[in-house]
Amino acid sequence: MKHVVITGATSGIGEQLARDYARQGWQVTACGRNQDKLSAMANDHASLTPLAFDATDSEQTYQALGRLSVVPDLIILNAGTCEYIDQGRIDVPLFKRVFDINVFGVLNCIEALQAGFSDATHLAIVGSSASYMPLPRAEAYGASKAAISYIANTLSADLAQQGVTVSLVSPGFVETPLTDKNDFAMPMRVSVKQASAAIQSGLAKGKTEVHFPRKFTFILKFLALLPMSWQIALARRMTRN
Ligand SMILES: NC(=O)c1ccc[n+]([C@@H]2O[C@H](COP(=O)([O-])OP(=O)(O)OC[C@H]3O[C@@H](n4cnc5c(N)ncnc54)[C@H](OP(=O)(O)O)[C@@H]3O)[C@@H](O)[C@H]2O)c1
Repeated sequence: MKHVVITGATSGIGEQLARDYARQGWQVTACGRNQDKLSAMANDHASLTPLAFDATDSEQTYQALGRLSVVPDLIILNAGTCEYIDQGRIDVPLFKRVFDINVFGVLNCIEALQAGFSDATHLAIVGSSASYMPLPRAEAYGASKAAISYIANTLSADLAQQGVTVSLVSPGFVETPLTDKNDFAMPMRVSVKQASAAIQSGLAKGKTEVHFPRKFTFILKFLALLPMSWQIALARRMTRN
């Protein structure tokens, strides 16, 4: 039986992935802080094992992931958060909160698991298409996802010698509690079911980058090719709207 470890499995994209993989017969280690939610999910799926820890706490993460008896075939590091800044005002505690989980949470998990990496390991890291270009109010979130995107792509090169496959997952807007609180238009927002299907399909093909919905992500990728002054002008326009 194949084994997947999924962080951020108590909500949104991670929960859907955990339930989908469990339904398909995978052994799933579902991670998050919300123990009640994890227990409820374990009641729903016999092959799902809950693992509660705060990924921003390196000691807790090390202890929790170190308890895994088998080396997972697939590791999906998905736990994350999003906070926006207001009118370009830098708020350092906000930046620290966002980087703590989006960047250091991911690194804590990798550090805890890397001793068990083999040529059968597939590591998937969830970034965001928000990192492709400057977007209004996304200084902290976009920068954290740009950092994670760089780390994933570089690890992809560095771990290739060990035979480890690394995939960067870059979603557009997905309907989850994270985006439900947004007060702006979210073009081409997809359901968690669609997101989970796109991620599973991309990972099954061993893709280096899994991005979706493709119409949206290709538009962003194209805009990211424009001169930076044009990209900034676009972001200013979005801010006014
Ligand atoms: N939704 C979108 O449109 C979208 C777009 C691009 C990228 N993404 C990325 O996709 C990932 C999942 O997002 P989502 O929309 O599904 O968000 P979500 O519904 O808010 O779920 C976030 C998950 O992260 C976990 N988490 C947060 N802080 C944690 C911590 N300190 N330790 C352990 N787990 C923690 C939460 O679990 P607990 O509260 O139980 O700890 C929860 O399961 C994130 O990395 C996000 O940046 C989302």
